[in-house]
Amino acid sequence: MNHQELRALLADMSLKEKIGQLTQLDASFFSHEGPVTGPASELGIDEEDAFLCGSILGAVGSERTAQLQRMCMAKQPHGIPLLLMADIINGFKTIFPIPLALGCTYDPDALRTVGDIMARESAATGLHVTFAPMVDLVRDARWGRVMESTGEDPWLNSLMAEAMVRGIQGGAEAARASELKLDKKHIGACTKHFAAYGAPVAGKEYNNVELSMRSLLEDYLPAYQAAISAGSSMIMTSFNTLDRIPVTANKWLLRSVLREQMGFDGVLISDWNAIGELIEHGVAANSREAALLAIEAGVDMDMMSGCYMRSLTELVEDGSVPVALIDEAVWRILVLKNSLNLFEDPFGIAGKQSEAELLLNDKHKQLARKIAADSFVLLKNDKQALPLKNQEQVAWIGPYTDEKNTLGAWSFFGEKQYTTTIREALEERGLKPDIAAGCGILNPGQTVYGFRYSTKNEMTADQTQELIDQAVQVACGKDKVVLALGEVNIQTGEGGSRADITIPAVQQRLFDAIYAVNQNIITLIFAGRPLDIRSINEQSQAVLYVWMPGTEAGGAIVDVLYGDVNPQGRLSMSLPYSVGQVPVYYSELRTGRHTEDGSEPGNRFLTKYADIPNNPLYPFGYGLSYTDFSISPVSLSSDKLTSEGSITAAVTIKNTGKSSGVATVQLYITDELANVARPLRELKGIKKIKLESGQEERVTYTIDSNMLRFYDINMKYQTQQGWFTVWIGDNSQTRNSARFELI
Ligand code: GLC
Repeated sequence: MNHQELRALLADMSLKEKIGQLTQLDASFFSHEGPVTGPASELGIDEEDAFLCGSILGAVGSERTAQLQRMCMAKQPHGIPLLLMADIINGFKTIFPIPLALGCTYDPDALRTVGDIMARESAATGLHVTFAPMVDLVRDARWGRVMESTGEDPWLNSLMAEAMVRGIQGGAEAARASELKLDKKHIGACTKHFAAYGAPVAGKEYNNVELSMRSLLEDYLPAYQAAISAGSSMIMTSFNTLDRIPVTANKWLLRSVLREQMGFDGVLISDWNAIGELIEHGVAANSREAALLAIEAGVDMDMMSGCYMRSLTELVEDGSVPVALIDEAVWRILVLKNSLNLFEDPFGIAGKQSEAELLLNDKHKQLARKIAADSFVLLKNDKQALPLKNQEQVAWIGPYTDEKNTLGAWSFFGEKQYTTTIREALEERGLKPDIAAGCGILNPGQTVYGFRYSTKNEMTADQTQELIDQAVQVACGKDKVVLALGEVNIQTGEGGSRADITIPAVQQRLFDAIYAVNQNIITLIFAGRPLDIRSINEQSQAVLYVWMPGTEAGGAIVDVLYGDVNPQGRLSMSLPYSVGQVPVYYSELRTGRHTEDGSEPGNRFLTKYADIPNNPLYPFGYGLSYTDFSISPVSLSSDKLTSEGSITAAVTIKNTGKSSGVATVQLYITDELANVARPLRELKGIKKIKLESGQEERVTYTIDSNMLRFYDINMKYQTQQGWFTVWIGDNSQTRNSARFELI
């Protein structure tokens, strides 16, 4: 349709029909025959009204989505097609590593590939938009949803947000969401959660957010802006408050900032029941007030609260809500559906044949295996414990040696039966591995929200001890032991906040028992967050952080352990020394008493702890390779930068090791003097370079004044003359620097 036809459609719609378009219901509301009475009535929505909803979430499968589409279109007075959405965060059937691991690739092309593949598989199953990417900045490892983000840095997250949106939307170019036109092989992106959901006080899920305006604008909004500039079809509001105002009712944030300043003109959807939760927040007395607050704030679509469907008609009819506000929201939804070709072709490419061709096909699995391997971070490798040699006798121990659920907390549609485990990958390699689980993932009897997770967790302590004893026998006398440990999937994700971020105690017991008989330990850590692995790290010869690697977990791990793939992951989020440090991140603001770890040990009156170091166990940007690299001192083309000019910063990087490898050279800048406190340093550039042994390459970065802007004392986004330090190295603690003056 063209916009003239869309306008005519809007003009011809009844108020009831319009309000239906503003409602999204879960697929559980609809059986094959029609709305299921129970859930719909819980929301105070009668069955006929349910058919008028503009969108359904959570339905997948070409048959199911087509059936819903046919059933609802038949009931729509103008036959307006449904918008079908679901959470496809790191893959639909081919599951890639969790986004926090994808961030560790420092490779936007990899994320674009992930977005492209998950979109193609989703389109085949009948979906139109995914609730992704999640671009919330995360700095508190206690929060369960850090796994969904690409990490702690605004610049890296912005790079990744843009790549993910372009991948999901098939590279569709549009200055604004309203001008988008997607091809049928891709789907729309719904970037979330606007805004700053990743900074809950105390890392506690759904908690309030207390941020300075500068931190919001400089740290938390850039990645959303990158997604919007890449044409994200939709944005989702977040559950939290900002400045004590729930985001979903925050007119300043949603209209002045999101729409006017950031230029988003696509569809804004609430998070699940976030409109209804305005009552719980204590800012709305009832559903009617909640609906009023949200529609005035500019929320176009109500996910699963029913407030719009229950209250908007009355609000319009009594004059509380001008029909223009309704029309504004319906218009954006019609434009979105039109950008997805739904009026001409509500079924798209979905079908059994597309599913058979695309879901989990070999090409997708090969890419999942490669990207997983590139997301692993080698934290330690003493005595060159890795890579393993084929002739070495290795014991494979730990609950993750045979674990198939390595898909991440947001992989609802991934099927763990298709996951390759470490055992299976070793056997595919022609090895006959000596394997012993040693224990379950959780402690005997431990549950997560009442969920036991696996039969091994139902064992008694004695039965578990038996498993540990068996594992010790397997470890005795071996050249090396690979220990596959970690937190369980359901300890991460939404509702996954943890105050204790160590691995379950039973796994520590297993580690200690193995260490007592064999100290040649290589530890793999499966996790959805940076864990406190301090003691394991001390006693392991090598540590490889594999996060939740997805469908091809086993293959990717074996490829890296045996050196077929040289690890290149770099931490996208700092690994804390202990939970007492969090939130811990490299770009902390300067203080009046800053100190570097270890300096002035006798002086207590500095920004530090008395009982633990300031530095994380491993910093943002850190990761080892099987080879070594040297980086020359930083050279600048000039030590003077004008506001209109640019200078070049350069280093020469050399592969001084014996094997080829990929280095990730990082550029950071420190603003030495400004009229507000500035971060210790900020990431401003990355370059990934593959070098053969002995090969060297010159790496250059162009620096201009735009990179130096900040919100100054008058809240103006601009630069301030003065001196800056440029750091170029292989992690955020590099001391390799030079200085220039902005004049
Ligand atoms: C959830 C999440 C959001 C998700 C939505 C739909 O509560 O906060 O990320 O997309 O509901 O499942």
